[in-house]
Amino acid sequence: KKILVLNGPNLNLLGTREPAQYGHHTLADVQALCEAAGQARGVAIECRQSNHEGLLLDWLHEAGREAAAGTLLGVVLNAGAYTHTSVAIHDAIKGANVPVIEVHISNVHAREAFRHHSYISPVARGIIVGLGVRGYELAIDALAPLNP
Ligand code: DQA
Repeated sequence: KKILVLNGPNLNLLGTREPAQYGHHTLADVQALCEAAGQARGVAIECRQSNHEGLLLDWLHEAGREAAAGTLLGVVLNAGAYTHTSVAIHDAIKGANVPVIEVHISNVHAREAFRHHSYISPVARGIIVGLGVRGYELAIDALAPLNP
């Protein structure tokens, strides 16, 4: 079985982007830590990143079909700034009927007010915020079966 890790806009810049907020890990580091977490839990990990909202929607729809077919356990989603703007991603998660764990590297609640609202949280299975890139591993843990 598989877990899909989706990163949204600007997360390709991890490592050099606002290190005080997001630390020094690159997106490649995040991918490596997710793959290691998957391996330890006996699940395959697929990581994708896009700056394009529509592509994230397409991937969520695809994830819904794979979840219905029984080949996908769920999605770890850091939607970046689309978290705070995208009714379309909210609707896609609802429509695709796929378990989603929402992840944010930074503690969005300790930052600007416009980051306090999430369109994803009401349709997420769970939310991990402010624990750095370790949040991805915790999210994989939440989706992976205890006895693979
Ligand atoms: C983020 C938080 C968002 O507010 C921001 O727009 C991001 C990254 C995080 O991982 O902390 O791009 O999702």
